[in-house]
Amino acid sequence: MKQSKARTKEEKTTTLEKIRVLAYGVGVVGGMIAKSLLEKEGVEIVGAVDVDRNKVGKDLGDVLGLGKKVGVKVSGDLDSALAKVKADIAVHATSSYLKDTYSQIASIVEHGVNVVSTCEELSYPYVSEPKLAEKLDALARKHDVAVLGTGINPGYLMDTLVITLTGPCKKVEKIEATRVMNAATRRLPFQKKIGAGLSVEAFRQKMKDKEITGHVGLEQSIAMIADALAWKLDKIAVEPVEPVVAKKLVQSKDIRVDAGKVAGLKQKAKGMMRGKEIVLLDFQAYIGAEEEYDSVMIKGVPEIRQKISPCVHGDLGTIAMIVNSIPKVINAPAGLLTMKDLPIPSAALEDMRKYVKEI
Ligand SMILES: NC(=O)c1ccc[n+]([C@@H]2O[C@H](COP(=O)([O-])OP(=O)(O)OC[C@H]3O[C@@H](n4cnc5c(N)ncnc54)[C@H](OP(=O)(O)O)[C@@H]3O)[C@@H](O)[C@H]2O)c1
Repeated sequence: MKQSKARTKEEKTTTLEKIRVLAYGVGVVGGMIAKSLLEKEGVEIVGAVDVDRNKVGKDLGDVLGLGKKVGVKVSGDLDSALAKVKADIAVHATSSYLKDTYSQIASIVEHGVNVVSTCEELSYPYVSEPKLAEKLDALARKHDVAVLGTGINPGYLMDTLVITLTGPCKKVEKIEATRVMNAATRRLPFQKKIGAGLSVEAFRQKMKDKEITGHVGLEQSIAMIADALAWKLDKIAVEPVEPVVAKKLVQSKDIRVDAGKVAGLKQKAKGMMRGKEIVLLDFQAYIGAEEEYDSVMIKGVPEIRQKISPCVHGDLGTIAMIVNSIPKVINAPAGLLTMKDLPIPSAALEDMRKYVKEI
């Protein structure tokens, strides 16, 4: 069984010791994860890392705007953060692509610390970054830790939940999952990522220059579904991102979108098998969306239709997915894992130590 290298055998005991967490990336999402952890029993934040000059050197409580110190300084690098403390797991929330996050995650792993990350590509990295995925898997096994990429999407709504819904099916002919959300209630980096407030020309240019990315993860979600069902896809076709243009003035707390400007975007991706479209994911996020929902339709035997309305709040859902995954990742075998490799998702509502087998 995997044992956390962060604790020596003599030190390792007891579920009475709190789970020690390193917060790596304390931006909007990482900050919300840290706040949530500070409110939980059985877990303590022992260190924090970020590169933002406005955060480095400050007490985490000040960075999070708590109005009180928590006694943990934000470090500019991992080695200083772990110089005097040991961690069982790092919650990692810096960026979306594995080529950008690989070295960060690898260095956490080399410290013998498990990782749960919001990095979208890490949710199923074998499809877009197979070499890095293999390298990371080997490194995690070598250091006897587990690494997981998760979140609300990718990580749950358009993959893990879809896979779970196929459980009672004896035949699946086609899967369609749709997520429509009003981005006005989401964090500012997300609203910027979907181009809210830009002109259509600026939107297209920024997309071309990769200054804005749109949603990252549809390809990973399709690949995870296919893997779970042992479907060998001919290809995954990710359609070009299209702007959603506001028909009237719409706004969030921070962004005003006049009629004719971009309110957000829509994206589709398809999984093709034997020339037929077998998975269709349809993602729409824009300020002012009137009906928000998450739906899954499985055409097969039996046919399954599921709708969550309004849609699951993306930021709150992501924070909870990361926090709830902590004990599952600590309990998991060493290596690079995806959500389909773990026990079914569930909330960790009680003292976090109750969910950990042994640390
Ligand atoms: N899977 C999902 O469902 C899901 C859901 C929500 C978010 N996400 C992803 O989670 C990531 C974080 O989102 P966010 O909104 O919190 O972004 P954010 O506000 O920009 O926060 C990222 C933080 O990480 C810092 N950072 C960047 N590179 C770093 C490095 N090498 N080492 C340490 N810190 C570093 C950033 O500093 P600077 O500002 O100085 O760069 C910033 O403080 C994004 O990629 C987002 O797409 C995924």
